[in-house]
Amino acid sequence: MSTAFDKKALVCTNFRANPNHPSCGARGSDKIFIALSEQLHNLPIKIEKSPCMGLCHDGPNVRLAPNGRFINEVDMQKFELITEEIKAFIAC
Ligand code: FES
Repeated sequence: MSTAFDKKALVCTNFRANPNHPSCGARGSDKIFIALSEQLHNLPIKIEKSPCMGLCHDGPNVRLAPNGRFINEVDMQKFELITEEIKAFIAC
């Protein structure tokens, strides 16, 4: 049985320099990882970097685990919505 402290938000930070093969890292996911880590550090969830999730064209991607959904096309303009979704995930 998982507890709130087992929950994670996995941020894909895989980087590819090839502009013909998109990657979350090339789209600024490091900035999202840092912002989430700073914003949510006092909540019972781990914010971790992740390798490629195989959804590169929909990135940057964040996956809520365990059993959470993928949040696609994450960017700083949607940051508040993303943090609210993560907080709802923690509460469920
Ligand atoms: S590079 Fe992020 S899902 Fe592939």
